[in-house]
Amino acid sequence: MGRLPTHPLVSGISNLGWSECAALRTVAAMNATTTIIARDDLFTHIHKGLRLGLFDVTVRAGRTNWADPVQATELGQRWRGLLTLLRAHGDHEEQHILRLLDSHDPAATELTSEQHRDLDGLLDDLAERFEKVLAAPDAAVGLGLYRDLARFVAAYLPHMHDEETRVMSRIWECCTDDEIAGARQRFMASMNARVQALSIEYMLPALDGPTRNALVAGLAAAAPGVLATVLGIAERVLPPAEAAELKAIAAASG
Ligand SMILES: [Fe+2]
Repeated sequence: MGRLPTHPLVSGISNLGWSECAALRTVAAMNATTTIIARDDLFTHIHKGLRLGLFDVTVRAGRTNWADPVQATELGQRWRGLLTLLRAHGDHEEQHILRLLDSHDPAATELTSEQHRDLDGLLDDLAERFEKVLAAPDAAVGLGLYRDLARFVAAYLPHMHDEETRVMSRIWECCTDDEIAGARQRFMASMNARVQALSIEYMLPALDGPTRNALVAGLAAAAPGVLATVLGIAERVLPPAEAAELKAIAAASG
């Protein structure tokens, strides 16, 4: 694999050349004063959730005993939820987020769309094979699927990195906050209840506490109708203390 794309400045941390001197870069990044960009970031929160989901399902696939129907069924449920979220997320990016650059810099999203087509093909292949092995569990087939799931994750990670850094930076350069807010409204409106619930389920445990709390405080003020659902998911997916903290913040913000 060649060098991953590099971008000069991400949230105040230079990441140029990190692959040449990884240990040094890690120490530097851990000690840097991170500048949080105040503008709306359309990728990072959901990508954190997707990373959690991809790592989790890969580890689960590796530890599944295919001779145990309960374990195979649990893995299948976890996989199908993540698959639904991955497909919906790709659609949101293609239909709404990348379209922000059409009138400014259409060339900036060509690579991203090409990667979407490739990744969609890999995902369809994985989905088909997952259903086959779930219908007729077999340890050797399951092991092959686990390895290819890990290879899919390896392909998906640099794609998300490029979107969060190069593409989002270009959107900030070219688009107003109103344009970005419009794209967010459009993809949020296109989500069905299942995708909304899956997004929350994967994002809540993947976000840092302050970001998670701010997200729910904003929701309590803007969309109190869905708050009970969000807090119900929080109770299921977060450690009790974090779920209780979220509940208190929602009550104070509503
Ligand atoms: Fe993407």
